[in-house]
Parts: sequence; C-alpha cells; structure tokens
Amino acid sequence: MAARHPVGQCRPVAERPSARGAGTPLYGGDIQLSYGSAILDGVNPFRFEGPIDPADLIGREAEVELLVRHALDRRIVSVAAPRRYGKTSLLRAAGARLEREHGFVVAHVDLLGLAGPEDFAARFGSAWRRATSGVKPLRRQLEQLAGGLSELGVTLLGSGLTVRRRERAPDGALAVVHALLDLPGEAEQPVLVVLDEFQALHAAWPQGEGVLRSHTQSPQQTGRVAWAFAGSEPSLLAAAFEDSGRAYYQQALRVPMRRLPDVELARGIAERFESTGRAAGVALGPIVELAAGHPQRAMLLAHLLHEAVPNGGEATERHWARALDTARRLVHDECTAVWESLTPPQRAALRAVHLAGSATAAGTGDTVSRASRQSAGTALVRRGLIELDERPGPRGGRRYRLVDPMLGDWLVQRSSG
Ligand SMILES: Nc1ncnc2c1ncn2[C@@H]1O[C@H](COP(=O)(O)OP(=O)(O)OP(=O)(O)O)[C@@H](O)[C@H]1O
Ligand SMILES: [Mg+2]
Repeated sequence: MAARHPVGQCRPVAERPSARGAGTPLYGGDIQLSYGSAILDGVNPFRFEGPIDPADLIGREAEVELLVRHALDRRIVSVAAPRRYGKTSLLRAAGARLEREHGFVVAHVDLLGLAGPEDFAARFGSAWRRATSGVKPLRRQLEQLAGGLSELGVTLLGSGLTVRRRERAPDGALAVVHALLDLPGEAEQPVLVVLDEFQALHAAWPQGEGVLRSHTQSPQQTGRVAWAFAGSEPSLLAAAFEDSGRAYYQQALRVPMRRLPDVELARGIAERFESTGRAAGVALGPIVELAAGHPQRAMLLAHLLHEAVPNGGEATERHWARALDTARRLVHDECTAVWESLTPPQRAALRAVHLAGSATAAGTGDTVSRASRQSAGTALVRRGLIELDERPGPRGGRRYRLVDPMLGDWLVQRSSG
C-alpha cells in the first residue's frame, strides 16, 4: 500500500502523482511544488500544512510547559490564536508529553465544521476510542456502552463511532452525548480532553456548551479530568469565556500563544537547513523579517528556500528571490479571495493598518470616512485578519497589524502593480 503523505510533508520524487502529468510544474520554473499537494524534491524538513510532530516544533517550550502543568492540576484551559499559529501542534506536543511522562489518556476532538449533537457525539466517541485503543478496560467500557446505545443509533466502526438520528428517539443524541461525556471521569488514569476549534460547538449547537459544562464541572470530573479548548477565530472563542451569558464565562485559564520570536525562528530554520546539508545563508534574515513571527508563513518560506537551494549548497540572493516569487504565487489566490470578501471600508481599514498601524490613520489615500473604517477595523479583528500589535508604537499608542504577513506583502505587490 502506498504510504500516506500529509500535505506539506516530504514525498519522494518517484511517488509524484501523475494525475496532472508527472513532473509538470504547477507554477512554472523548476520548483516542482504545489500548495496543497506537496510535490517535493528530496528531504525537506519544513512542513507548512497541518499539525506537525512535537519534534518539529520551533520554540513553544514555555507554552507546552504551561499546558502540562495545568493538565496536571486538572484545570480547564483555553488556547486562542489566529489560524495556522500552531494551536493543534502545540496541544499535540503537550498531550504527547502527558502520555509519555505522566500516564495520561489524551483525547483530541476536532470540532471544525461540527453539524450538531449527533456529530458531536460521533466525534467525541471516535476520539475517545482512538485515545483508549491501548487501554483495554477503557476500550471494553466504550464497546459495552456503544452496544447498550445501539437503540439510539450508535455504532462502533473500525476506529470510529457513528451516531444516526432516530425518528422515534428525537432526544437520543443528547442521551448519547451525556453517556459519552461521563467516560473521562470514570477512567482510572488521568485524562486530558482537547476540544479543538471549540467555537464550532456553540455555532452548531448553542446548548452544547451547557451540556458540556454539566460534565466538566460535575463532582465526578472536577479535579480528575483536564480540559483544553482551542480555537482559531479568536474573538468567537473569547466570547465563549467573556460573555456572561455563556456556560464557560470566566471558567477557563487562558494560555497565551503569540508569534514566534525572531531569534527562535532564525535558530530553528538555520538548524534545520544544516541538519539536511544546506545553509540558509543570506536568506535567513529576509525570511525572518517577512514572516514576522507567523509560524506557518515562516515554514512556507523556509520550505521554498530549501527547495531552491541545491543539496549541499548555501542560499544566495537568487535562491531567496526564487523562493519568494514562488511563495507569492502560492498565496496569490488565497489573498485575492480574502480581498474580494471585504467591503470597501474593510479594504480601506486593512490597507491603513498595514501602512500606518491603525484602521483610522489619516493620509493613507482612502476616501472612506474615519467612522466607517473604525467599525470595519473591528470586523477585521473579529475575522482574525488584524490584531493588536504587542510591540509598543512610536508614541506608545495602540497599534494593529495584519495577522498574515503574506497578505501585507500581497497588498504592497498589488499596489506597485
Ligand atoms: N512552533 C512551530 N514551529 C514550526 N512550525 C510551526 C509551529 N507552529 C505552527 N507551525 C506551522 O504552522 C502549520 C500549522 O500548524 P497547526 O495546524 O498546528 O496550526 P493551527 O493553529 O492548529 O492551524 P488551524 O488554524 O488551521 O487549525 C504547521 O504545518 C507548521 O508549518
Ligand atoms: Mg488546528
């Protein structure tokens, strides 16, 4: 059977897919790589899509440490950060350490695109089944439970669990959710449950947070089970913990997740080049500067540079120019789609933030009113397109910046024609 190669991971040249015509570059030039299908040349240590292995993480030691400590104290934590900042990778790294060093059972439940209570039950049950696959008593307990719930549409299938809606038991899914959520509290082992893309729970099933809370804060679970809620739409996730009408209002400890520091990025990239017999050379500075601490953008640029540098070689200005050119072509469609989804005031606000650090800055060449740009700026924060810049501004004021530095680069390229 052919080995699976997650997007962005290395794949030997011999395994390149032939559907588009083997060896036909998608983007011209001699870099054979496609964003999303990862046709790669040799061993490239930089993955730029999907969660990465704990060993591949650059930095994040402090965050892993904090997550481990809170899990050992059986706390409820939240991790909110923009898209592709490494939330899932971080939680997997913390989970792996808890399993290895502290005997935890760790269940990772992905709620992205959740459809409702049946779907929640299926995802939770499947995650619990995967997490307990090596723990016989827990596995047997789930099998027995699923057998008892078959009337309510529950089936165990391979490594997963499915829940079908039954007309004659309209509240069946709720009963199944309750039964499944009881399981972590009954384990002898310490347990961490990660609910990734947590904001999707409220969106798909408004009562879901309350149902969950009745378990996470029950006497059976308090002090026994640790929970981590992660989300990639920061303002929506924040609402779950800051809105007094919501079940988890002020109930979770926040684990901050910021951009990666330049020094850590530079060291991590340089080391990975060296470990594969290449050197990042003069391109290291420009990569770190352009990526601005955005983890995925840094990996994308480093990946492309690695592709551009020959085996055993050191990056030159020419290699960097080639990598940058490919990166710009790879993100072009994504940036265009973002731009086209914005209203005129939002476009003006985005441009003003990029040029001057504030949606309402004067003199950025737009005729949109200050008030419109102000409310457009709020919408951009909610969408995770801009964020408060934690670095102090020139006069100590609040400054914003684009979350995605490649979107900023695209704006500049676009206006320079
Ligand atoms: N600490 C890190 N070191 C190296 N690369 C990282 C790091 N954090 C994130 N990345 C890069 O970001 C990519 C996305 O990571 P991950 O899927 O964990 O992020 P996420 O925040 O969960 O994303 P999403 O918002 O899509 O769920 C990885 O493939 C990798 O390229
Ligand atoms: Mg994720």
